[in-house]
Amino acid sequence: MNLQHEVLDAWQARYGEPAALPMPDMLIGQILRHRSVRAYSDVAVDEQTLNWAIAAAQSASTSSNLQAWSVLAVRDRERLARLARLSGNQRHVEQAPLLLVWLVDLSRLRRLGQALRAPTAGTDYLESYTVGVVDAALAAQNAALAFEAQGLGIVYIGGMRNHPEAVAEELNLPSGTFAVFGMCVGYPHPEQPAEIKPRLAQSVVLHRERYDAAAEAEAVAAYDLKMSDFQRRQQRDDRSWSSQAVEQVQGPDSLSGRHRLRDALNALGFALR
Ligand SMILES: Cc1cc2nc3c(=O)[nH]c(=O)nc-3n(C[C@H](O)[C@H](O)[C@H](O)COP(=O)(O)O)c2cc1C
Repeated sequence: MNLQHEVLDAWQARYGEPAALPMPDMLIGQILRHRSVRAYSDVAVDEQTLNWAIAAAQSASTSSNLQAWSVLAVRDRERLARLARLSGNQRHVEQAPLLLVWLVDLSRLRRLGQALRAPTAGTDYLESYTVGVVDAALAAQNAALAFEAQGLGIVYIGGMRNHPEAVAEELNLPSGTFAVFGMCVGYPHPEQPAEIKPRLAQSVVLHRERYDAAAEAEAVAAYDLKMSDFQRRQQRDDRSWSSQAVEQVQGPDSLSGRHRLRDALNALGFALR
C-alpha cells in the first residue's frame, strides 16, 4: 500500500468517513497515522535515534526561549520496574526498551539566578509552572513525531504523576523539577499492532469566531457509537466514550492519587503562587 493510501485510511480511521481532498503532505500523513504503542519488539533504541528525537524536541517553540524543561532517559531494567510500580503497574513501562521522563524544569533558571546573584522569585508563580508544562509538552510531542518518523512507537505515561515525590527520589530530581509525564519508546511488536483510534468530529473541537456547543450532543453520540465499535474490536470495555470520560473526572478518587498534586508540587519546590 502506498503512503497516500495509508494517509487516506488514517483519516477514515480517525473520523469514520473519507478524507477531503487534496491530500496532505508527508508530515501530516505521518501525524495522522499516530497510535499509542504499548507492545515492543526486542530491538533496542540506539543513541542516534534518541539524539534525533531530542533535536526535534529542542526545535519546538519554547516560551521566551526559556527552555524550561529537561528529559531523563531511563534504560536500567530495575529502575524501569520501580517506575512501572510507581505509575500504576503499567506493564509497558516495565517492558519498554527506553522510557523518557519529561520534566518541568525551573531548577536551571534558579541555578542561573544564583550564578548571576539575581533573584528568581518569578519561578514561584503558577505562571512559571505553566510555562514549564507547556514547554515540556511541546518538546515531547516533537520527539514523539521524530520517533514515529524513524519507525518507532510511543505511549505517554501520565501515571508518572501518581507518586511525584517517590519518582523525584528515584530520579534524583532537584527542587524545582517535576516529572510531568513519561513516554515509553520502542519498535512496535510485529504481532501486536496498535490500531488508529477514532477522534471526535472536527465540528466538536473546532469553533469559528465564537464558542458554540449547540451541535455537540449529536456529534458526541455519533462518536460514542464509533468508539464502542473500536473498543469491541480491541476486546475492551465497550461502554460509551462519554460515560468512561465522565467517570474519569467524577471526583478526587477517580484521579489515581493525583488529587494531591498541588501538595506534591509544593513539596517539590513549586510554590504555585
Ligand atoms: C499526557 C498523556 C498521558 C497519558 N498517560 C497514559 C498512561 O499512563 N498509560 C497509557 O497506557 N496511556 C497513556 N496515554 C495515552 C492515551 O491513552 C492515548 O493517547 C489516547 O487514548 C488516544 O489514543 P492514541 O494515542 O492511540 O490515539 C497518555 C496520553 C497523554 C497525552
